[in-house]
Amino acid sequence: MATAITYTAFGGPEVLTPTEIQVKAPGADQVAVRIEAAGVNPLDHKLRSGARPSGPITDPRRVGSDGAGVVTAVGEDVEGFRAGDEVVVFGAAGVYASDIVVPSSRLAPRPPQVSAAEGAALGVPVGTAYQTLRSLDVRAGDTLLVHGGSGSVGQAIIQLAVLWGATVLATCSARRAERVSALGAVAVRYDDPDGGTLADRVRAAAPGGVTAVIDIAGTDEALQTSLDLVTDRHRIATLVRGKDAAGLGIRAFMGGSPRPLNAQELAWRAEAIPVVLHLMAAGRFTVELGPQLPLADAAEAHRLVEAGTDGKVVLLP
Ligand SMILES: NC(=O)c1ccc[n+]([C@@H]2O[C@H](COP(=O)([O-])OP(=O)(O)OC[C@H]3O[C@@H](n4cnc5c(N)ncnc54)[C@H](OP(=O)(O)O)[C@@H]3O)[C@@H](O)[C@H]2O)c1
Repeated sequence: MATAITYTAFGGPEVLTPTEIQVKAPGADQVAVRIEAAGVNPLDHKLRSGARPSGPITDPRRVGSDGAGVVTAVGEDVEGFRAGDEVVVFGAAGVYASDIVVPSSRLAPRPPQVSAAEGAALGVPVGTAYQTLRSLDVRAGDTLLVHGGSGSVGQAIIQLAVLWGATVLATCSARRAERVSALGAVAVRYDDPDGGTLADRVRAAAPGGVTAVIDIAGTDEALQTSLDLVTDRHRIATLVRGKDAAGLGIRAFMGGSPRPLNAQELAWRAEAIPVVLHLMAAGRFTVELGPQLPLADAAEAHRLVEAGTDGKVVLLP
């Protein structure tokens, strides 16, 4: 019998319950995967708590979109995957589980250099980072400011933008400056006790100016700094203040935006996973892992993510 984490009412982490589930054989274009690791994203706890609106719960609701595991069976018409293949699962539904059946389009082959936990850390952060950078057309010659550079999305943005030739400034706490710098960004404290504004600190770190901004922090100061430093509002994007973006004339990709991602943006999010797996296999992209907990401890995993734990929290079925 397979196990999945479910909840039947919005609420605190304690609503997450291990439940026995039936897993059907994969149908046409579907693949069955035994999950070895499931990544925990902030969106998972926002949906669970109801902070991010979703439809009313009518059946036990599954959790999680990202994971990694081993193919156990393939349905008709599936090409490119067979039983025994190690894979990364991204953009799927209900991945906090021991076993799952997903469309083959939600899988990428996992190279041997990438552990299951690392593979489970990719889907949302890497897809979001790559799509946002492509949408803003960040390239060599740009000076990119990232608000929230030390988190999973921020670290992916820094690494890709540096690889593509941009100069990157990333805001973080003093505690996390070393990590951000090691990835190739200029670390800028968002919480400097010596005073001064965030905009002043960014100006001091980038005297030539900033040409594009990605906001994953969502504070008023981060937004105001973006508006103060970049006149072309088409090159300012927020991933967390989507509701406010239209009023400010800036761009938003999800994060509460009423506008769904378009076909190109969705394609970029999917394209990101094999691109980054290739970079990881070549030793050119790294993932920071955090605590790894048994699947049954999903509630504790959500508490850790909500508390701001460093590195990607992963569940191990
Ligand atoms: N729109 C989308 O499609 C999309 C996709 C993925 C994620 N998101 C959202 O993006 C946010 C980050 O996700 P994540 O997975 O990267 O989370 P994460 O790994 O938990 O990282 C969160 C980061 O926020 C930083 N932070 C907190 N306060 C800050 C401030 N005032 N200024 C700058 N940084 C600050 C923390 O940095 P320190 O540890 O240095 O304090 C931490 O590294 C979440 O709200 C998530 O829901 C949106």
